[in-house]
Amino acid sequence: MIGIPPGTEPVLKLQNVESAYGPIKAIRGVSLQVPHSRIVTVLGSNGAGKTTILKTISGIIDPRRGSILFRGENITAKDPAHIVGRGLSHVPEGREVFPLLSVHDNLMMGAYTRRDRDAIARDLEAVYGYFPILRERAEQDAGLLSGGQQQMLAISRALMAAPQLILLDEPSLGLSPKLTREIFEIVVRINRERGTTMLLVEQNANMALNAADYGYVLENGRIVMEDRCEVLREKEDIREFYLGIRETGARGERRWKRKKTWR
Ligand SMILES: Nc1ncnc2c1ncn2[C@@H]1O[C@H](COP(=O)(O)OP(=O)(O)O)[C@@H](O)[C@H]1O
Ligand SMILES: [Mg+2]
Repeated sequence: MIGIPPGTEPVLKLQNVESAYGPIKAIRGVSLQVPHSRIVTVLGSNGAGKTTILKTISGIIDPRRGSILFRGENITAKDPAHIVGRGLSHVPEGREVFPLLSVHDNLMMGAYTRRDRDAIARDLEAVYGYFPILRERAEQDAGLLSGGQQQMLAISRALMAAPQLILLDEPSLGLSPKLTREIFEIVVRINRERGTTMLLVEQNANMALNAADYGYVLENGRIVMEDRCEVLREKEDIREFYLGIRETGARGERRWKRKKTWR
């Protein structure tokens, strides 16, 4: 796929993964790969199964079928603590910072399994460099931060674990377009400067397609399309259904009335 050097295994590989809540199948046979040092996105509207994919990867939900390989190890249905210990950090939907702990203590919670004190101190400086507002608010309770600042804190807490892979669940949720842009810019910088591999799930196709290298489109729990983001951005279906760009056809017929070509 996307220019993986020959012989290099992807950091993460899902094969035919199926997860359900009781009788409700939320994802049905999802296969995807995340190569080293890349940002891969899964686009999908509300209820498509994005959060379920991430919860299944990080061990919060056990899949009914399929397998998940992380850095060559089969982590399917392993304990979440084990998976974190292998180098995977999950930034959950809705941030979930510890509201009664200070910003600084939230960040240190991200590093609680580490013993390399000098490297922890360097990483703390690095996240304060990416998000200076967190340094200003370091001693405040995290619950007093704005939604955007809490998102910055959740991403930073994940970085403090020095992960090999970060799962990002809808960082744009509930944020203004301006804040969303700011956060995405920094996410891309972190990827470029630190080489941190990321799997980003988003409803905001515009932001996600600009930030990521490769994308999958998820509908009703199934992957219906995948390609490099620069290709997806130009596809009519994506432009119409995910980017909201309504192009007018030759006879003035509105193209969005037509069916998606992948169905
Ligand atoms: N705890 C749950 N119990 C039952 N159904 C759920 C639960 N969480 C999600 N679902 C259902 O699974 C499907 C996928 O949900 P989800 O993964 O949260 O989608 P997304 O993150 O793309 O919005 C939806 O139909 C949703 O209603
Ligand atoms: Mg979700």
